[in-house]
Amino acid sequence: MAPPDTVSIVEVGPRDGLQNEAGSIPLAAKLALLDDLGAAGLTRIETGSFVSPRAVPQMADSDALFAALQRRPGVRYAALTPNLRGLERAIAAGADEVAVFAAASESFSQRNLNCSIAQSLERFAQVCTAATRQGIPVRGYASCVLGCPLEGAVAPRQVTEVVGALLEMGCYEISLGDTIGTGTPGSMQRLLDELLPRFGAQQLAVHCHDTYGQALANILVALQAGIATVDASVSGLGGCPFAPGATGNVATEDVVYMLRGMDIECGVDLDALLLAAGNICRALGRPTHSRAGRALAAAADA
Ligand code: HMG
Ligand code: MG
Repeated sequence: MAPPDTVSIVEVGPRDGLQNEAGSIPLAAKLALLDDLGAAGLTRIETGSFVSPRAVPQMADSDALFAALQRRPGVRYAALTPNLRGLERAIAAGADEVAVFAAASESFSQRNLNCSIAQSLERFAQVCTAATRQGIPVRGYASCVLGCPLEGAVAPRQVTEVVGALLEMGCYEISLGDTIGTGTPGSMQRLLDELLPRFGAQQLAVHCHDTYGQALANILVALQAGIATVDASVSGLGGCPFAPGATGNVATEDVVYMLRGMDIECGVDLDALLLAAGNICRALGRPTHSRAGRALAAAADA
C-alpha cells in the first residue's frame, strides 16, 4: 500500500523522554521545551503524567507544569492518567486529552501498574467513561506489543485483545508501543497482519523505542500498511523506568527527516525542531541521540 500523504506526529519527549531522567529537571527547562516544540509546529504534545509521584518522581510536577504552560493555539497538550485520581488531576490541570496505558504482557502490567491486565482495563474503562462525560478525548496505549522485558516474545493475539478492549471502552486511537525496542520490520509486519483485518489503520498509531536501532524501519512498515500517526521523542529522549535497558523513542528529528524525504507532510519545521533538541540537550547536559540531528549539525558546522 502507498504510504499516507500526511502523518500526524505525537511528540512524547516531555513525558516519555523526561520520565526516565535520573536527575530532577527544573520546571523552567520543561516549559522551555514545550514552548520550543510548539514553535516547531508540533500540535500533539504529551506533556506530563498524573501518576503516583512515588512511582515516577520526574512527573510529580505535572500539575505545576500545566498551570504554568503558555498554551499555543492549535496545540493539544495531553497527559497520562492511570486511574480516576489521575483523571481528576488532569481535568483540574486543564489537559486537552488524556491517555490510558495497558500492557499486552501480564508481567509488565504488574510491574508498570501494579495490577493485572484485566484490572487495569477495568480502571481504564472508568477513566474513559468519566473523561467522555467531560468531553475529554482518551488515547490508549498497548505496551510491549513486540516484546516484553520480563516475558520475551508477546503473541500478536494478546495485542489484539488489549487493542480491542481499549477501543471498545472509547479510546479514539491506540498507540502500539514497542516498549523495549526489540521489534523488527518482520515482527511489526506480523503484528499488523493480525491487527489490520480487525481494526482500521486510522485507529492505530505506532510508538517505537529505538533500543535495537529498528524504530525507523518499523515505522516505515507501519506507514506502508496505512498507519498515519507516529509517536516520537525530540532528540530520542526517554525510556520507561519499568523497562530497564530500554532506550528512548525514535527521535522526532529522524522521523521528520525521513518523512520529508518521502514527500509526506507532517507540519513540523525541522530547523526549529533542531533548536528545540539543542536546548533540551543543553539543559540535560548530554548529546542528542538523533542521527539526523547530529549529521545536520555537523553539516552546518562544516
Ligand atoms: P498502586 O500502588 O497499586 O496504587 O499503584 P494505589 O492506589 O495503592 O496508590 C499508591 C500510592 O500512589 C498512594 O500514595 C496513592 O495515593 C498514590 P501513598 O499512600 O503511597 O503515598 N496514587 C496517586 N498519586 C497521584 N496521582 C495518581 C495516583 N494514583 C495513586 N493518579 C499506580 C498504581 C498505577 C498508581 C502506580 O503503579 C503508578 O502510578 N504507575 C505509573 C506507571 C508509569 O507512569 N509508567 C510509565 C509510563 S508507561 C510507559 O512509559 C509506556 C508507554 O510509553 C508506551 C510504551 O512505551 O509502550 C506509555
Ligand atoms: Mg514509551
